[in-house]
Amino acid sequence: MNMTAKTIFEDLKTRLSQVVPEVELKYKAELAEEILCLKKERNAVILAHNYMEPALYFSVPDFRGDSLELSRKAATASADIIIFCGVRFMAETAKILNPTKTVLLPAKKAGCSLAESITADDVRSLKAEFPGLPVVTYVNTYADVKAESDICCTSGNAVKVVQSLKSDTVIFLPDEYLASNVARETGKTIVFPRKDKDAGKAVYQMIGWSGKCEVHERFTVADIENARRQFPDVIVMAHPECSPAVVAASDFSGSTTAMVRYVAESKSKRYLLLTECSMGDNIAAENPDKEMLRICSIRCPHMNEITLEDTLESLKQTRYVIEVPEDIRKKAYRAVQRMIEIG
Ligand code: 13P
Ligand code: SF4
Repeated sequence: MNMTAKTIFEDLKTRLSQVVPEVELKYKAELAEEILCLKKERNAVILAHNYMEPALYFSVPDFRGDSLELSRKAATASADIIIFCGVRFMAETAKILNPTKTVLLPAKKAGCSLAESITADDVRSLKAEFPGLPVVTYVNTYADVKAESDICCTSGNAVKVVQSLKSDTVIFLPDEYLASNVARETGKTIVFPRKDKDAGKAVYQMIGWSGKCEVHERFTVADIENARRQFPDVIVMAHPECSPAVVAASDFSGSTTAMVRYVAESKSKRYLLLTECSMGDNIAAENPDKEMLRICSIRCPHMNEITLEDTLESLKQTRYVIEVPEDIRKKAYRAVQRMIEIG
């Protein structure tokens, strides 16, 4: 059955009337109808990250999820075109895993501060400085950085990836906070050789880099203390890209989908989500009996580049096509494939 703008609008209105004005939902439902028709005509599949804005998130995707789930969906997609409603490194990962498909990113750039924080040359220098150590690279990096790595990880499986390696010592790049959070969970000591003056003398089992997520680095322990003072029953959830102090002061930390599931399964009434703010809207829409505190509302500027308008243009004009040079893709594939095999 073809979804008409009217049925899409009714569905969006039921879910989102508290967060999006009706007139905007009407307009977005019309765009969504066009996208769904074209998607069928062009044999495309739409994958959308949990951070997509609510009207897009609840209308056009075939699959929604965190970066690990979407990588798995991309790897097995049979459609001719994969439209990635997420950021560039996610679309690149789809191309690495399923190279015969046309992979489209609806925005020209849609970067990520973590992916920009490290280059393939940086990884080669670290490998020369610490020879023989396995390199674990967060999936929030570009293909040439992945190609220099032994295995990738996401926030959903970083601890398991580190534990799966036969080595006591690993290089973990490029997120300083995720690395520190993983070090704490695995009982390892971490150093940041480019930052710590005394790193050369320290005893360590993890070597990190000083990349940061420009969204998650802004959350503070004071945000949590303020929320707890006003709402003593609040459940505080922090993405592992938050600082170790913020994660330690929270009740739960996990990938975006782990947070979605936690709220769905928990009996608590009130939550503070220390992550990208559209996800709070999406969770609130799916859990109308629960309250998401809107204290920390930080939108990722890169995820924000993906709109319904650009998704439609992407399908109409087959833009922006993601390409990864084959020599880099083959090397990156090994690291990404090892990652998606780890739960
Ligand atoms: P997830 O893998 O948890 O979806 O996170 C991706 C991301 O970019 C978080 O900022
Ligand atoms: Fe990158 Fe942070 Fe945006 Fe996620 S939220 S895409 S890590 S900048």
